[in-house]
Amino acid sequence: MMSSGKGILAADESDATAGKRLEMVHLPNEPENRQDFREILFAAPGTEEYLSGVIMYDSSIKNFADDGTPFPDVLISKGIVPGIKVDMGVVDLQGFKGEVVTQGLDGLADRLKEYYDLGARFAKWRAVISIDEDDLPTDEAITINCIMLARYAQIAQEAGIVPMVEPEVIYAGDHSLAKAELVTTRTLQILFHTLLKYKVDLEGLILKSSMVLAGDMHGDQSTAEQVANATLRTFHLSVPHEVGGIVFLSGGQSPKRATENLNAIASYGEQPWPITFSFSRAIEEPVLLTWQGKPENVEAAQKTLLHACKMNSLASQGKYDANEDTVLK
Ligand code: 13P
Repeated sequence: MMSSGKGILAADESDATAGKRLEMVHLPNEPENRQDFREILFAAPGTEEYLSGVIMYDSSIKNFADDGTPFPDVLISKGIVPGIKVDMGVVDLQGFKGEVVTQGLDGLADRLKEYYDLGARFAKWRAVISIDEDDLPTDEAITINCIMLARYAQIAQEAGIVPMVEPEVIYAGDHSLAKAELVTTRTLQILFHTLLKYKVDLEGLILKSSMVLAGDMHGDQSTAEQVANATLRTFHLSVPHEVGGIVFLSGGQSPKRATENLNAIASYGEQPWPITFSFSRAIEEPVLLTWQGKPENVEAAQKTLLHACKMNSLASQGKYDANEDTVLK
């Protein structure tokens, strides 16, 4: 999954979130539209050169391509490993205003067994770490989310499934780069301390992290160089070297910025862990904009997907030239 030059597409939006993506191109959130879009993503020719895995959602791992092939088999036939989002979203953490905890441990072992039989070999659990320039996040919110991540990782490893653990420090907001670095470092330190306490095998685990950058409303937007410095400093202070790999979410950055930031990080050369992309919005948005829900645009949309995957593959090797790329915005 972490082979050089490849990354992981996160196409694991819940059906509700998929609706928000479709809204961008004024399409109603209907099962047919979700299925058509997912088929564009999963069946696009050539993506296997740049993608080692694709994260799916419950309704897509159980769904079929137009020709009747189960979606996970479409990926497997291309040599792409199917993954599955297994958390059940966030709920408010009572007593901690503005903070949330992820749910989904109930029945998880049984669900993982079912997903394994459908072809999934890795899983994802997303925790949301709220951040502001003042008191957020609290240590209590970080701690409970890390315990949930550790328990999930234990259950996944027991089921023969590689856990991808995702503590997402939110990009939206007016917090500074310094605050983002502090919070991400603290979160990852608590996370790995907790994973070790719960005896999770770190070699068989992938960290999915946010990049360290100032909030999208902050007056001083971080340069790619600043992002790369702060992110690598954070990892070196908090991620044990045994960890199987690190992948990035895009977090709401524009596709081009996410790719440029990944490139800046990779430009620092080899790190103790393989590092690559696992973007959702930064890859899917240009594809959606090309597709517009029109059958005659499917081929062009798949070409846009291939382009986005190729640019991020180059960026993961520090070889992306933003000036040459006229497609990603
Ligand atoms: P984005 O790249 O859109 O942040 O999504 C990645 C992801 O997996 C969120 O859970």
